Order: sequence, then C-alpha cells, then structure tokens
Amino acid sequence: MTRLDRVEQTRDPLAGPPLTPRTAVIWSVLRAELERRGGDRLTMLDVGGGTGGFAVPLARAGHQVTVVDASPDALAALTRRAAEAGVADRVRAVQGDGDALAGLVEPGSVDLVLCHAVLEVVDDPAPVVAALVAALRPGGAASVLVAGRAAAVLARATNGHLDTAATLAADPAGTAGPKDTLRRRYDADSAADLLRAAGAVVEEIHGVRVLADLLPAAVADSQPAALLDLEQALAGRSPYRDLAAALHVFARRPA
Ligand SMILES: C[S@@+](CC[C@H](N)C(=O)[O-])C[C@H]1O[C@@H](n2cnc3c(N)ncnc32)[C@H](O)[C@@H]1O
Repeated sequence: MTRLDRVEQTRDPLAGPPLTPRTAVIWSVLRAELERRGGDRLTMLDVGGGTGGFAVPLARAGHQVTVVDASPDALAALTRRAAEAGVADRVRAVQGDGDALAGLVEPGSVDLVLCHAVLEVVDDPAPVVAALVAALRPGGAASVLVAGRAAAVLARATNGHLDTAATLAADPAGTAGPKDTLRRRYDADSAADLLRAAGAVVEEIHGVRVLADLLPAAVADSQPAALLDLEQALAGRSPYRDLAAALHVFARRPA
C-alpha cells in the first residue's frame, strides 16, 4: 500500500465536491453505491461529463474515470482540473459523440456509468442508453439525470408564458417548440422506461432541484443548509419528486 493509498483511506472518499441542490441528491446516491462496493477501485465512464464536476471527485476517491464529451473546450477544462487535483493519471478525456458511444467504449468494461444532462440534447436517446448499459459489466450501475417536463411547464406558466407552457405540456417530447434549447424532457415513468428498454433494472428515482428553482434567490442564498436538507427530504417522495427540475434514475445491469 502506498502512502497515497493510506491517506485516501483515512478521508471521506468524496470529501471536497461542494454540495449544491443540483448535486447533493446525486452524490448521496453515488456514495451509497460506492459504499456498497466496499471501497473497490472502480472503472467509470461519464458520458457528456463536461468539465469533470463528477469525474474529478470520483478520480480523487481512487476510481478510474473516462469522460466522453463532444466539446474539446470542456475536455480541455477537464484535463486542467484533473491535473490541478493531482489525478491526471486517473482521468481519461475522450472527444466523441454520445450518439456513437457504442464505438468508443468496450462493452462490459465499466462498473459505473454516469450520463447527466445529456439525453435531452442527443439526436436519439435510445441507442445512447443502450450503449451505456452495454458498457456496464453485469452488476454495474448507471446514474442518469434528465430534464423534468413538469417543472418546465410550471416554470413557463409562473413566469407568465402560458402559451409556451401549454405547448410544452402538449408536446409528446416535452419541448416548447423550435427555439427550445432541449430536444426532449421526461417524467419519472418515461425516464425509467428508457433504462428498462435497454435491459437495466431501475432501483431508484429521485427529483433533483425540487425547490431550488422555485425559491427567491435571497431565500436560497441565506439558508443553503436548510434548502439542501429539504431537497434531500423531498427528493424521493411523490408528488415532490415528480415536480423537480431534473430526474435522477439509478439503474443496474442485471448480474
Ligand atoms: C449540460 S452539460 C452537462 C455536463 C455534466 N454531465 C454535468 O452534469 O455537469 C452537457 C454536456 O454534454 C456534452 N454533450 C452534448 N451533446 C453531446 C453529445 N451528442 N455527445 C457527447 N457529449 C455531448 C456537452 O459538451 C456538455 O459538456
């Protein structure tokens, strides 16, 4: 065992990443999975991992993380961030399209795959999710975050854009028309169905940002700990979960 190994074993493996309403619930799900794996050093894949907000802390915890992202700028920032954190050897940046994931990652080679805030922008989510699940070893897990449709409808309506809210509510894909920055949005059932259609077993669904986007900034800024506690308390409970800005699905490839 190296000195570094001993140091890492004595600290919380995920200490460091700032917890926000956007990340706290996801980290608590990932932390439980890492604990379940009993401290094994895992092979991970973050599809559309961007600048490494999840990849770098996971690498700091000792895991080997490949980030596939379409953006060279994001990958350059990821590489810098990994170097600054001293984990450049555990983070691999691969420029590529999530739509072509099947050709970039060896099937059955990954313990944990992350795909956060990506399926709403790719050409076709079904083959991406199929490739995510195919990349997993039997027993491996997928952490998938997608945009929530109900929150988007409520946000447009409460901002006074009732026509846009109506369009978004009626559109089968959950978009507000050609100017929408997202190509689709989900509810808990349709998000879970994506994973199930690829052969994964859905274990947990949480709402992410149930309240954060609804509160005045002054409230969120002045009571950050109370907001995080409330987000965590509501994340797994309907109807709160179903109104969240994003839905987190945690699923597993059967062993
Ligand atoms: C909203 S960001 C999310 C970043 C990160 N997953 C997170 O949750 O913080 C979306 C990321 O997906 C990447 N992306 C968008 N379309 C993609 C595609 N077709 N294939 C791979 N990456 C893509 C973007 O470059 C960007 O880094």
